[in-house]
Amino acid sequence: MTATTVLGDLLPAMEMHELVDQAVTRAGERAWSLGDLDWASLRPERLTEADRSAVRFITFVEDHIPGYLSHFLEAFPVADAEQELERFGFNREYFRFLVAWAGDEERHASALTRYQIETEMATREELLVGLAEEGRKKFTLPYEHPVQSFTYTLVQEKATQLFYRRFLDVVSEPFLKDLLGRLARDEARHFAFYSNLVGAYVARDGAAAIPGLKDVIATFRMPLADTMKGYWRWSLNVADSTSYDHTEAYDSVVRLVRGFVDTPGEPSVDDLGDFVQAIRRVR
Ligand SMILES: [Fe+2]
Ligand SMILES: [Fe+2]
Repeated sequence: MTATTVLGDLLPAMEMHELVDQAVTRAGERAWSLGDLDWASLRPERLTEADRSAVRFITFVEDHIPGYLSHFLEAFPVADAEQELERFGFNREYFRFLVAWAGDEERHASALTRYQIETEMATREELLVGLAEEGRKKFTLPYEHPVQSFTYTLVQEKATQLFYRRFLDVVSEPFLKDLLGRLARDEARHFAFYSNLVGAYVARDGAAAIPGLKDVIATFRMPLADTMKGYWRWSLNVADSTSYDHTEAYDSVVRLVRGFVDTPGEPSVDDLGDFVQAIRRVR
């Protein structure tokens, strides 16, 4: 991405600094650890087959953090003396967010992995081998502009937050209920950062930002969708059992754009809204 990225595709480092500062401070205030969880309260007998299937599924998704983080560190490098100072400044700020975020996601993966082991859904050995099998596959995002990568992540964070909320409503195992609440709150925090970040671009570029965002929604796939065998079937089953629909997350992009591009009757804003409605009808 960096080879073709022009500096104008990045926000000024100072502006990025403020957004990141807010997010990282909040991350520090809301942090929790695996030790805070009441592992003695586990009631595996209350898990349904559908619950177990969903837990396996989200463990794969959360466990993909090494690939996801590596992608961003490659796309926004922080160890390259040849790059312009302003570019380094932006990347350096983003790095501060990325490490805090990766810490959250790593905790999600670790908590779910331990959950599977403690509830005897899987042995440690078979689980770690299975996760490694998927985790080693390459993760990339096809987008040309940084704001598109940020929009992708915004949608994906919103989608996971929505999913955890829905799952929490149908699950009766008390430990998992508590854990899902924590995961959903963390994802909401991640979403808030990307929402502010993409919002800053939309505030700057106005309606000109919309075609790029539309492209992201048109091609959106959850991480793993293209690499994991049986992903689509599995994700549809999981979605069915929790009444979850990831296309709901697209609405957050429309709301964000409407919040910034408030020129009444701006055709590209209405077009984006109609487009999202159309996608939601067919899925
Ligand atoms: Fe997560
Ligand atoms: Fe997240």
